[in-house]
Amino acid sequence: MSANNDSIQKTILVAVLLCLVCSIIVSGAAVSLKPMQLKNKLEDKRKNILAAAGLLQPDKTIEEQFKRVTTRIVNLETGDYATETELNKLEAAGYPLETFNQRRLSKDVNYSAALPGKQDPASIKRLEKFAAIFVVEKEGSVDRIILPIHGYGLWSTLYGFVALEGDAETIAGLGFYAHGETPGLGGEIDNPSWKALWVGKKIHDAAGSVAIDVVKGKVIAGNDKEINQVDGLSGATLTSNGVKNLMRFWLGNKGFAGFLATLKGQGV
Ligand SMILES: Cc1cc2nc3c(=O)[nH]c(=O)nc-3n(C[C@H](O)[C@H](O)[C@H](O)COP(=O)(O)O)c2cc1C
Repeated sequence: MSANNDSIQKTILVAVLLCLVCSIIVSGAAVSLKPMQLKNKLEDKRKNILAAAGLLQPDKTIEEQFKRVTTRIVNLETGDYATETELNKLEAAGYPLETFNQRRLSKDVNYSAALPGKQDPASIKRLEKFAAIFVVEKEGSVDRIILPIHGYGLWSTLYGFVALEGDAETIAGLGFYAHGETPGLGGEIDNPSWKALWVGKKIHDAAGSVAIDVVKGKVIAGNDKEINQVDGLSGATLTSNGVKNLMRFWLGNKGFAGFLATLKGQGV
């Protein structure tokens, strides 16, 4: 009997059956956990949006808090909200509003264009034609406008959100949810004290040009550009420059400038 069990055929049969059972368990788990993973991913994104806007309340569920937030798709070329036709086309192409994947869109040749070096200070290589933005209203008027931003630091592409006040001019918050900068150096972009320095800063100078800036060292108090300036991160000038470049890019003409002008024109 034991000789039989030790036969090559039986050993192979047991190994094959074991592999089959394990693969069924693993693929079953992957399939059944997929909806939970998607839910967690969405919740994480929403948490980042609320955190960037300074609206995150730890005692309430994300779902409850996000009820105040409306997701809209902006056409970056026209500076307007996407039309019904554009939204339908996006949906048909696999980019529905509910799960709009801007990162994937930026790689889609039908919905993005290559950026030549000179027009690409944030080193993003391709620019998508549409972006998902988030609007928070309070008592009938716009309270926060939250814009997705990304661009290269020193080691990695930084992905985050910048939140503006209802005036579409004053920064209400900034946060990066993905990057690969060095902890303690470029990674200090996550430091709450540094992020707090952005609150209240203005995007434009008096002449109306995008002037938001991350200076090397400390901002000199009382200088006439102080309202646009944030301290650089010490020992991490390259990451700081990356943040400055990506902020200027996304708030500039190729980014959301047209959309922000539209909003201001509507007297938000
Ligand atoms: C291992 C290592 C990791 C570094 N990581 C970063 C980083 O994440 N961001 C950054 O700007 N500089 C980083 N630096 C430093 C840069 O090479 C450069 O010296 C620095 O950005 C200059 O900033 P400073 O003029 O404020 O000193 C790193 C250096 C080393 C050796």
